[in-house]
Amino acid sequence: MRILVTGGAGFIGFYLAKKLSEKDEVVVVDNLSDYYDVKLKEARLEQIKDRVEFHKIDISDLSSLKKIFEKYEFDLICHIAAQAGVRYSLINPWIYEKSNILGTLNIFELTKKFNIKKVIYASSSSVYGGNKKVPFSEEDKVDKPISLYAATKIDNELMAHTYHYLYKIDMIGLRYFTVYGPFGRPDMAMFKFTKNIFEDKPIEVYNFGNMKRDFTYIDDIIDGTIKAINFCLNNNDICEIINLGNSKPIELNYFIKLLEKEIGKEAKKNLLSLQPGDVLETYADITKAKKILGWEPKTEIEEGVKKFVEWYRDYYGK
Ligand SMILES: NC(=O)c1ccc[n+]([C@@H]2O[C@H](COP(=O)([O-])OP(=O)(O)OC[C@H]3O[C@@H](n4cnc5c(N)ncnc54)[C@H](O)[C@@H]3O)[C@@H](O)[C@H]2O)c1
Repeated sequence: MRILVTGGAGFIGFYLAKKLSEKDEVVVVDNLSDYYDVKLKEARLEQIKDRVEFHKIDISDLSSLKKIFEKYEFDLICHIAAQAGVRYSLINPWIYEKSNILGTLNIFELTKKFNIKKVIYASSSSVYGGNKKVPFSEEDKVDKPISLYAATKIDNELMAHTYHYLYKIDMIGLRYFTVYGPFGRPDMAMFKFTKNIFEDKPIEVYNFGNMKRDFTYIDDIIDGTIKAINFCLNNNDICEIINLGNSKPIELNYFIKLLEKEIGKEAKKNLLSLQPGDVLETYADITKAKKILGWEPKTEIEEGVKKFVEWYRDYYGK
């Protein structure tokens, strides 16, 4: 099979491209955006450069993207690229519109034009917004986003349904819940906290630590994504949205304690109020993923934090 992975220099896209390239021909597109340290993206690409074909392309640029679809005949699209991050969407909402809405529209349009019938795309737990009922189920209403990032992800899900209805493209949207692990994103809490604790700098603890996140380890996310791909390939006329989360929310304060234990140092804490756009708790109902994909996360937070800190120590020579 020939597979397009968008965002393959990013955290999740890199691991997905790596795994898929064990068996399939993988083409990666990524614009290497400088939202966070580009060196990290280059280092990820370095690891897979002999296994995938990489093209530096912005998915909001339709004509460049079209050339990729002309060059290769894809069997499947894994659309993982996006401008990620809730907080940055309050600062630069335009880039979310460009990469997440226009970029996704371009991907779906070219998928239609080149008669490709299978798409997996990355959605997010952010779509649940300020929903109070936990755990979050795919059946819940998601019409009240509280950040522009979340609004673009809801938009992607709506577009996916439209392309499925009109053009019979099989679509699976994966709502990822706070993904973490080695080579993770520097804008996310685990990375930022680890860096600051190592460097004796204070960490910013929002809502005074009274928040919960359903931290999900990268290997489990890749396992779930591969299972979703196989489900998509083996079924016809499907348009699904599936939660991929650990289904075990972790208190921020407990998570900080774990980091302190692994790093062997106490964190200096700067206690702050809840940030606009942030939700108090994320918690995945994974009944659907268990039922239709046979997926279950395996990594406990204690083990995952250990692996992340080990990687950080090694990578940054701490
Ligand atoms: N990491 C998480 O906790 C999490 C949670 C929910 C959803 N997601 C979603 O999963 C996907 C992957 O997230 P990630 O954590 O790997 O983020 P990431 O930022 O590490 O990866 C995204 C990649 O997309 C690329 N990209 C951005 N805009 C682009 C554009 N216009 N054209 C081409 N490439 C572009 C970036 O350069 C980056 O390498 C995203 O869609 C994100 O919204 C991630």
